[in-house]
Amino acid sequence: MVTTRSIPLARPHIGERERELVMDVLRSDALACGEMVPAFERAFAERVGTRFAVACSSGTAGLHVALDRLDLGPGDEVITSSFSFIASANVILHERATPVFADIDERTFNVDPAAVEAAITPRTRAIVPIHIFGYPCDIEAVSRIAAEHGIPVVEDACEALGCSVNGRAVGSHGNPAVYGFYPNKQLTTGEGGMVTTDDADVAADLRSLVNQGRSDNGDWLVHQRVGFNYRMDEMSAAIGIGQLEKLEALLEARRRVAERYDAALAGIDGVELPYRGPEERSWFVYYVRLAEGIDRDAVAAGLAARGVATRPYLPAIHLQPPYRARFGYAEGMLPVTERVSRATLALPFFVQLEEGDVAHVGGSLREVLREL
Ligand SMILES: Cc1ncc(COP(=O)(O)O)c(C=O)c1O
Repeated sequence: MVTTRSIPLARPHIGERERELVMDVLRSDALACGEMVPAFERAFAERVGTRFAVACSSGTAGLHVALDRLDLGPGDEVITSSFSFIASANVILHERATPVFADIDERTFNVDPAAVEAAITPRTRAIVPIHIFGYPCDIEAVSRIAAEHGIPVVEDACEALGCSVNGRAVGSHGNPAVYGFYPNKQLTTGEGGMVTTDDADVAADLRSLVNQGRSDNGDWLVHQRVGFNYRMDEMSAAIGIGQLEKLEALLEARRRVAERYDAALAGIDGVELPYRGPEERSWFVYYVRLAEGIDRDAVAAGLAARGVATRPYLPAIHLQPPYRARFGYAEGMLPVTERVSRATLALPFFVQLEEGDVAHVGGSLREVLREL
């Protein structure tokens, strides 16, 4: 097959403003520990509606420090879901604790609060719910269960900047929440992340942990705790400020692309479109769920031959090699997660995707499915 199109899975949207802000940094001497990071943190906290936001070098770093301050160790359990990017669970292993995977809701792909409750044991030390694909999990139910058992919650909001639960932004429900800014995200800084919180002590802990355990007293060579170098650099923060200024437009543009997809893919046999629930999704990816029995690899190969990049997104974490090897996990452990994970396929999704591209993806998918 000859195709002239080549549509990638994701593309960042960087404009003149971001370039100018990065050039301002490069013209200054402050490439690290300057004014851009605090300015980005203030603007981000204001957007999410929290008192504090602590910038860090990635979403993974943010999750790691948010758990590290809980002093976890061997024998401690942390409940999360397996339908996520592997970093959500790896940070639990980095803390030498054990991830306990609760199964997900078949429609939202987020952790099922009843499964969380059932997974709690005397060794449970934290819960990490994930707002996957930009659709919020039932954070109110999870927080209520956690509070009843006195267990702290860290929200993985890496894919969820811009979505709300009951009118309140994700990240403003009383738990530390972690965002990721990799270039496929709603807002990018290249690499980067942010943790939001209303609690001054939590913010101080996080700020210290990302900065080699230093405290705010200005003494650069006194380290109050064993920390990390997870600082965000000034160029990244400059990009973040530019992105945040146009965040509403970016989110709206993503919404428009999703609507175009909805129209282009409507009514295809065996193809389920993204869940539309009571909460509004902040569009991170556009995925389809293929009916059982459709060969997803063949669909992906057929689309690739037509210049359309896809990804089998997401593979279940508990079935990844290190988790199988360490814990002996195998198929059958989490029926809903595994069913969803076998059937979902991410399609090209970014702000610059044109109507003709979406039509090409839709037409290609129809064609490939006919030919299977
Ligand atoms: C749900 C989820 N958690 C954690 C991460 C890790 O973020 P980062 O890639 O910025 O380390 C990602 C990002 O890819 C993610 O999608």
